[in-house]
Amino acid sequence: MAKVRMGMVGGGPDAFIGQIHRMAAGLDGNIELVCGVFSRNNDKNQQAADILSLSSNRVYADFQTMFDAEKKLPADERMEFVSIVTPNDSHHAIASAAIEAGFHVFCEKPATFNLAESESLAKQLQQSNSLFGLAHTYCGYPLVREAKHRVAQGEIGEVKKIVVEYSQGWLAKKLNNDGGKQGAWRLDPKSAGISCCVGDIGVHAANLAEYIGGSEIEHILADLGSVVEGRTLDDDATVLLRFANKARGVLLSSQISLGEENNLKIQVYGSLGTLSWSQQEPNSLWLLPGDKPAQLIRAGFDYLCPAAQACTRTPAGHPEGYIEAFANLYKHFSQAVVDHRDNTVANSQPDGVPGIKEAVIGMRFIEGTVQSSNANNSWLQLNTLNSKSMETNS
Ligand SMILES: NC(=O)c1ccc[n+]([C@@H]2O[C@H](COP(=O)([O-])OP(=O)(O)OC[C@H]3O[C@@H](n4cnc5c(N)ncnc54)[C@H](O)[C@@H]3O)[C@@H](O)[C@H]2O)c1
Repeated sequence: MAKVRMGMVGGGPDAFIGQIHRMAAGLDGNIELVCGVFSRNNDKNQQAADILSLSSNRVYADFQTMFDAEKKLPADERMEFVSIVTPNDSHHAIASAAIEAGFHVFCEKPATFNLAESESLAKQLQQSNSLFGLAHTYCGYPLVREAKHRVAQGEIGEVKKIVVEYSQGWLAKKLNNDGGKQGAWRLDPKSAGISCCVGDIGVHAANLAEYIGGSEIEHILADLGSVVEGRTLDDDATVLLRFANKARGVLLSSQISLGEENNLKIQVYGSLGTLSWSQQEPNSLWLLPGDKPAQLIRAGFDYLCPAAQACTRTPAGHPEGYIEAFANLYKHFSQAVVDHRDNTVANSQPDGVPGIKEAVIGMRFIEGTVQSSNANNSWLQLNTLNSKSMETNS
């Protein structure tokens, strides 16, 4: 089986997530980085290519040039999918150009700059043969898959309440450069979009709650704010949730919680028991039946569901983490690319990876929280909203 050929846009020498993607994509040995445009700055672009030992004729000045040139290469040489790891404002233009040129897309979250762009991508994908994957990293963890399985099997009964928290502290203080390079664009509405905190991490928490709980968020009441003075965008958010299955919930998302590293954790309370998982201790899942002692479920054991076992590479007790969770998304996405090599049936949603459906849901959540917060923290029905109704209401 020929390796799956990946191109990349973004992920230059001083970038955060691009290198994580490259490590994750390379983990199982079935994906090869064949081309890229890593920065708009020519020197940095070249510097990244040198570090990666990429042939100079496959390093391009911009994404459109890359798609045009790759399209002209023989089918067994050209890139098959592009990984988009740039700030939010360029995701749509790059994804749309890639789909137009006939490539598959694996895109960072938030999917686009705004909801209208995600809706437009969804329409474009319907007319294409391209796959679209979205990097909601946390659903790649084996014990998140296990939690989803146990909820779906009814092990905790009816889901009654979900409490999900994603707290960080890196934007707690206004430094000279306000969070460095990564903070600068995340706090700038021209590159981040309508929200900083919810767009950056709250949307991960919402996705995790929907993924494990198996039900969409239908109504929200949000309170967003910039705790650190002088910021245009939110750095803290509290959101009440009502899910389609009638469960209630609370979502806390913050970048000003001093001392917090990457504290993503979730409790799913059911009528028969509770499941509890934390990203900083990802190889443990707690089942709390209430009337019996708590059970510790650990990664790497045969007693886990097939979906969880398929996401584990090492035996129990050999810790796997963030990069492996990312690698699991790449594993499923690259399998879908292989399946598409001979199959021209359009189905943009790859198995085992969030896709364009989650992209639209995520963007609706981000815009919805801002709208609810601006409307004196009022309840908003989310699932019926689209970009047009958002505009009318605001
Ligand atoms: N899934 C996750 O857990 C996760 C974590 C961090 C960031 N992200 C997302 O990843 C994206 C990037 O975030 P980051 O923290 O790595 O940002 P970053 O600022 O560290 O890196 C962005 C890189 O993209 C390059 N770039 C920008 N525009 C470009 C263009 N048009 N062509 C080529 N290169 C271009 C920049 O030079 C830089 O190298 C964001 O959308 C962010 O929300 C997701």
